[in-house]
Amino acid sequence: MKIHDTIAGLRAARSSAGRIALVPTMGNLHDGHIALMRQAREHADTVIATIFVNRLQFRPGEDFDKYPRTFAADCERLTAAGVDHLFAPSETEMYPRPQGYHVMPPPEQDDALEGAVRPGHFRGVATVVMKLFQIAQPQVALFGKKDYQQLMVIRNMVQDLNLPIDIVGGETIRAADGLALSSRNGYLTPQERKEAPKLFHVLTKVVEKLQQKNREFPVLERLAVEELNSCGWMTDYVAVRKKSDLQLPAAHDSGLVVLAAAKLGSTRLIDNLEV
Ligand code: PAF
Repeated sequence: MKIHDTIAGLRAARSSAGRIALVPTMGNLHDGHIALMRQAREHADTVIATIFVNRLQFRPGEDFDKYPRTFAADCERLTAAGVDHLFAPSETEMYPRPQGYHVMPPPEQDDALEGAVRPGHFRGVATVVMKLFQIAQPQVALFGKKDYQQLMVIRNMVQDLNLPIDIVGGETIRAADGLALSSRNGYLTPQERKEAPKLFHVLTKVVEKLQQKNREFPVLERLAVEELNSCGWMTDYVAVRKKSDLQLPAAHDSGLVVLAAAKLGSTRLIDNLEV
């Protein structure tokens, strides 16, 4: 695997690369990321991974500084997964001056769910992903479905701005006990790690009720929040939404997704299940 820390270096390498699949990450790679790398290979001649912890998508007081940086181990995993190129720029390479132009998702995404709890987050994500798209110029790009709203923001950006890139979602990879793999799982204490699969189990219960044609969405959401909070979680939201646009569903709608975000101790976890 060739490692590039400059835009010029990656651009030179990509010019003879054929069909390119891009997998943007912030590093601290786990099996979910590696599954995306392998999936990327099915779509392209050349797989480019990126590792960049993007300050723009973190709010002051969030975990930008403590976000795990495990570059050597990440490189080993990417090499073993057969990735061709890694783009791992410095902050000054990506942002040589304060970023003046931004990609602004529309309010129905930017102000909802994750966007409501983390104002400006999706503006930061969309802006860096747009920059990575311009730098690597892939034909296809892959993102995990665990960050369901992020995937939707990126899909919509590509559509609205006519970018010639296919966006592919990768299934969430889970530990044996159901916990969705995430770099932030590493923050959990051993006791919190035992409790953490509850998020998946609570979502599973909501899905079962929906499958039994229960359409009392606010009640299902409230009971799920109460169950988590009674076990020591601080829940930001449990929300039943339409898969197509993450808007509120009507009772007759099918194609639903249940999304949740909650804090366990100081660690904020997100998860979702499609119905
Ligand atoms: O999902 C992530 O790791 C990040 O949000 C992304 C897409 C790499 C942008 O920084």
